[in-house]
Amino acid sequence: MSSRFDIIYNRRGSGCFKYDALKMLYGKDDLLSLWVADMDFAVSDQIQEALAARLNHPVFGYNLRLDDFYEAVINWQQRRFGWQVARSEIIAVPGIVPGIILSILSLTNPGDGVLIQTPVYRPFQDAVNDHGRRLICSALLNENGCYRIDWQDFELKLKEARLFILCSPHNPVSRVWSREELIRIGELCSKYKVRVFSDEIHQDIVYAGHQHIPLASLQDFQDICITGISPSKSFNVAGLATAVLLVSNPELFTRVNDLNQKMHLYLGNSFGIRALIAAYRDSEPWLCELLAYLEENRKLIMDFLGSELPDIKLSPIEGSYLAWLDFRAWDLEESQLQAALVQKARLALDPGEKFGVEGSGFQRLNFGCPRSILMEALDRLKTLAKDYK
Ligand SMILES: Cc1ncc(COP(=O)(O)O)c(C=O)c1O
Repeated sequence: MSSRFDIIYNRRGSGCFKYDALKMLYGKDDLLSLWVADMDFAVSDQIQEALAARLNHPVFGYNLRLDDFYEAVINWQQRRFGWQVARSEIIAVPGIVPGIILSILSLTNPGDGVLIQTPVYRPFQDAVNDHGRRLICSALLNENGCYRIDWQDFELKLKEARLFILCSPHNPVSRVWSREELIRIGELCSKYKVRVFSDEIHQDIVYAGHQHIPLASLQDFQDICITGISPSKSFNVAGLATAVLLVSNPELFTRVNDLNQKMHLYLGNSFGIRALIAAYRDSEPWLCELLAYLEENRKLIMDFLGSELPDIKLSPIEGSYLAWLDFRAWDLEESQLQAALVQKARLALDPGEKFGVEGSGFQRLNFGCPRSILMEALDRLKTLAKDYK
């Protein structure tokens, strides 16, 4: 049976980063594009209708978020995660990365240590380095493809840090942290008085057998946390630049909120605001359908790699639509691997080194695409693999 997610939309020429930047970034554009983390799917009917309705009012001045915006966020977090957030704890921002930078600037001083767990979403390290803070990395341990925290190293590094940026669920290694892991993270951060920016942008995309738990919903960790969430990944509206920070501790709230105001980042985008409401309030059935489709894509990757390409090791995909592939058995330099994928297989994936040195020899594959495209990508990998047996 066909699905709405099987439809292939031609995104080229729409000013789309994923396709229109291929030539600039990969040197050619006749590639299957499975890199940057947005999906090739149309948004829900509810979001399309909400945007069309907003367009029908042809005045686009400054915005004020009304009750429906805050209620949509509060109800979503309550319903999906059992976490009660108050309206007074919500800061609207144009994106999670701007939220991370606001938090770094308002909660740390130049030269302060900021800890991340590598390999991890590239802008974490850029946000620290670009703003004159000291980057501290605690590498995750890779045990036969399964990633876990090196607790000894994590604790050691926390002693030098003022802020820790957690990626939960984790991009690119697709971990959904367990309750025990989160409690241990929270307890250690509390012990060393380290604040946590918990980037939970992938919170809604989690597979059977796993459960996303907001760090701030556990114990008294809300006192040390700034949580970033947004509909941009789950509902595919990254281009509408709308996210929120959830901050219960009044002191942290004031510091981050003041800077958000001073930077004039708070007014928001007329369409992004409507999209967030239509996503969280009206699009849950669409999300359920999406999760079922992604689950099938995930299974396809697991089965295909397992049976056809056992040399490429896949980390267990617990959450997100990102697969982390280990090509080290091919024994290629990073540049050779990249050239083989682009020139021979005509595939644009994300090179693992982007996520930290630990990512060398790995690639990230975005499977938020129609299944026929994913199948074609896997077939191309299979053909390429014949050269590296
Ligand atoms: C972990 C993580 N955080 C943040 C972002 C980007 O967030 P935003 O576009 O809201 O800045 C992404 C996008 O891929 C991501 O994977």
